[in-house]
Amino acid sequence: MTVQIDHALEEIRRFRPSPEFAAQAVADARLYQEAEGDRLAFWARQARELLQWEKPFTRTLDWSNPPFAKWFDDGELNVAVNCLDRHVDAGHGDRVALHWEGEPGDSRDVTYAQLTDEVKRAANVLTELGVGEGDRVAIYLPMIPEAVVAMLAVARIGAVHSVVFGGFSADSLASRIDDAEASLVITADGGYRKGKVFPLKPVVDEALAKAEGGTVRNVLVVRRGENDVEWDASRDHWWHETVAEASNEHEARAFGAEHPLFILYTSGTTGKPKGILHTSGGYLTQAAFTHRNVFDLHPETDVYWCTADVGWITGHSYVVYGPLANGATQVLYEGTPDTPHPGRWWEIVEKYQVSILYTAPTAIRSFMKLGRQIPHEFNLRSLRLLGSVGEPINPEAWIWYRHVIGGGSIPVVDTWWQTETGAIMISALPGITDLKPGSAQVAIPGISIDILSDDGTPVEGEGGGLLVVTEPWPSMLRGIWGDPERFKETYWEKFGDKYFAGDGARRDEDGDIWLLGRVDDVMNVSGHRLSTAEIESSLVAHPWTAEAAVVGAADETTGQAVVAFVILKASQVEHVTDVSEAAEELRRHVATQIGAIARPRQVFIVNELPKTRSGKIMRRLLRDLAEGRQVGDTTTLADTSVMTAITEQVR
Ligand code: WT7
Repeated sequence: MTVQIDHALEEIRRFRPSPEFAAQAVADARLYQEAEGDRLAFWARQARELLQWEKPFTRTLDWSNPPFAKWFDDGELNVAVNCLDRHVDAGHGDRVALHWEGEPGDSRDVTYAQLTDEVKRAANVLTELGVGEGDRVAIYLPMIPEAVVAMLAVARIGAVHSVVFGGFSADSLASRIDDAEASLVITADGGYRKGKVFPLKPVVDEALAKAEGGTVRNVLVVRRGENDVEWDASRDHWWHETVAEASNEHEARAFGAEHPLFILYTSGTTGKPKGILHTSGGYLTQAAFTHRNVFDLHPETDVYWCTADVGWITGHSYVVYGPLANGATQVLYEGTPDTPHPGRWWEIVEKYQVSILYTAPTAIRSFMKLGRQIPHEFNLRSLRLLGSVGEPINPEAWIWYRHVIGGGSIPVVDTWWQTETGAIMISALPGITDLKPGSAQVAIPGISIDILSDDGTPVEGEGGGLLVVTEPWPSMLRGIWGDPERFKETYWEKFGDKYFAGDGARRDEDGDIWLLGRVDDVMNVSGHRLSTAEIESSLVAHPWTAEAAVVGAADETTGQAVVAFVILKASQVEHVTDVSEAAEELRRHVATQIGAIARPRQVFIVNELPKTRSGKIMRRLLRDLAEGRQVGDTTTLADTSVMTAITEQVR
């Protein structure tokens, strides 16, 4: 019996690529040797073969001023032309770029020719509205084709987009607009979510009233939700009255490879989100290379679907830039997975014959909970490759994904990367690499990673430590918008010339990498990054709060969940008669201040917080409590009785 189980376990630990898959695989094992032999020549070849350059580059990498890298920097290209016009020029104008599915069930197919046309019109409108090269444009849209059009139109004229996820609040939007000094906001009246229209334009109005910089001169509004909106005729413009009327003639200019393409805000260890800056040529090269090789893309036959919102980096690199640079046909879905029924995603897979699906472990785990009979009602046989991103995928979820969704024998690739890395860094190559559930496995060709101990010594062979990238890579962040010092401090101070990712990792006996989660005060909730400090400062901004501590506690579905411990102000305590109501009010407050994704799962009202003698909050102990564990070593606390008191209040 034991022998049998061991044998079964051994079997699920490793999956050989099937000969049929391997025979048609896009990736080639020789890529590893080529990149190892000459990394820079390898990336130069990818850049030349995957992209269209208006002016060819002669320099591959300039790393003379670390950590500020320049890739292909004497070359010139237009990113939007690479994603659009060149496919039309190559005769693929009739290929569907987007199978768009609205949440209420309306749908629209957009071909490469139509998308190109629409982007040209939008580019003309942006220029008419005074947006020029290098200007920042904030985009706050639902998952509709116009979101893709808006991003590409901004890129086409050499402006810089800052997409803000539609779930973020007016405050979050205002601070991002201010930080980037955006001159234009592109939004919609509203979009569909969970069967209802959620307003966007009203949030923009509120954000603009709050924004201190007063930099926004115009707001371009797509009509989608048909909800009522207020209108400021001197500032607001309807998309359907401007873009639809604009000329579809637009001559695209080429920009330098290091021209800024976008800023994307992400949470760090302080209260203020960081504006991660990405540029053009290197970013697009690695997005296109990984999209092709990690997802085994055959653009003529595949239907690809990445379920991420364009408000996150996954939506930038694997909904917009990677797939479109590769001329892929993809699904774009507006709504939630369970509206109007829990089989909605699988219905979409069946409807469009999706062959490649890229999603997050949190989604897979919620489907697991609902049971296999829901996906089994649909024909999912078109699927031939599955991908995962955002957090470690536990082996059980990996196996379920492969069996129940993938039918049992198709590759599942677990891809590790970050907003900062711009594109996939660690992943198996399907058809080449043996797959191991739970492990992200190996660096992609051309990427050099290592595991270091805290003092910077490399961990040889098997062992755990901190994940670093040891050589610059094409899609690496070029900085933090407006804050070069923070860029150096956050990623480069700890290990000098090596990029510190903030993740713990372990290398196993086969050399495969297992990600162990963040080692800093950053939480990962449903694959989205949240900062403990940002939520703490939001809680402290509430008039009732004296002190707050936030931890990420393990959660069966979302990976981690936000759990807050709050001390109320003495002056307020007498007014608060119902503790659970106070907790509810604070949860609501965080959701309004930052966005619904940041809403704490639980808020515990406590009298004290565990602190060291120097006043540092010991989050480790709070995490023990939040995860229902025996509280660990309390000897370094200034007052060791505090934890006993808190434990009683929480239980
Ligand atoms: C953090 C980056 C990259 C797109 C989504 C999140 C975690 C991401 C994995 C994975 C284990 C992962 C890491 C990383 N993460 N992918 N496959 N296995 N952990 O982007 O918001 O920039 O977060 O997500 O902790 O540092 P992000």
